[in-house]
Amino acid sequence: MKVLVTGSAGLIGSQVAKDLVDSGDTVYSGYHKAEPDVGIPTHIDLSDINSINEIIKKTNPDSVIHLAAMTNVDLCEKEKELAMKINAKATEILAKQAAKNNSFFVYVSTDYVFDGVEGMKKESDKPNPVDYYGRSKLEGEKSLMNLASSWCIARTSTPYGLHSSKTTFPIWVANKLSENTEITVVTDQHTSPTYVPNLSRMLIEITRRQLVGIFHVSGATRISRYDMAEKLVDKLKLPKTLLLPSSIEKMDWIAKRPKDSSLDVSKALDILKEKPLDVEQGLDSLVKQMN
Ligand SMILES: NC(=O)c1ccc[n+]([C@@H]2O[C@H](COP(=O)([O-])OP(=O)(O)OC[C@H]3O[C@@H](n4cnc5c(N)ncnc54)[C@H](OP(=O)(O)O)[C@@H]3O)[C@@H](O)[C@H]2O)c1
Repeated sequence: MKVLVTGSAGLIGSQVAKDLVDSGDTVYSGYHKAEPDVGIPTHIDLSDINSINEIIKKTNPDSVIHLAAMTNVDLCEKEKELAMKINAKATEILAKQAAKNNSFFVYVSTDYVFDGVEGMKKESDKPNPVDYYGRSKLEGEKSLMNLASSWCIARTSTPYGLHSSKTTFPIWVANKLSENTEITVVTDQHTSPTYVPNLSRMLIEITRRQLVGIFHVSGATRISRYDMAEKLVDKLKLPKTLLLPSSIEKMDWIAKRPKDSSLDVSKALDILKEKPLDVEQGLDSLVKQMN
């Protein structure tokens, strides 16, 4: 399979690009500033229409896995126009080019398209984002729905794993507690944390099988940040007293966060061969990887 992976040096993209290369696929590793380690490095700037128009012509992929995005939630709130340009407009243009080329298009989206009033959202539930990041990603989703060609919207939640430069939540917890530093963690924000290697395998399966529609591809457990940190601390035998409970209202965040953006993964559990892992399985795999 010939695949264009945008955001291929990012947290999720680097795993996806590596897994595809390891299975013998031809990977065009789309990057902006940070050069990817694997695949054929292919520059793209999502803020430049010409660059987006060119990349499909240049690479002629069977499929596109579109991960590149402005992912800093608070920055999206401050730079609303740029967030819309990169997360929504660029997705629309890239998806149109992919459709012209008959390339299957997988758009990786987010649990933040939901308002978080009630969790365990299904694919059929109506999005209602509370922040600009979520709004811009939802606009990206909408632009796919008008396309004639094949697409999949794959929504995920709180991805975690190891990355050469990005520190995900459990790694931050482990690092701080290993240094004997106290940390405050919110007890009232619930998500469906997703182990990146598991997510990568789900995304690749969707791409190979060209599964059309919306899929929730997160971890299978709804859990608060604090409870997740506690589980990790138990597994690593770190001092639990350094873990201080806090709440969303005490956090110094610019953008509003959904309180419960957990995702129902029944559809993925039914259809995919690679099943969403629960939090115990995900953290156990992470701990093994860390050793
Ligand atoms: N992280 C989360 O909590 C989360 C949760 C749910 C869904 N998602 C979704 O999953 C996808 C991947 O997320 P991630 O966590 O892997 O993100 P990430 O680590 O922040 O990576 C984002 C990638 O997008 C690229 N990018 C940013 N601006 C660009 C531009 N103007 N042109 C081209 N590329 C650009 C970045 O490249 P440079 O660094 O080189 O600029 C980076 O490689 C995103 O679509 C995100 O919305 C993420």
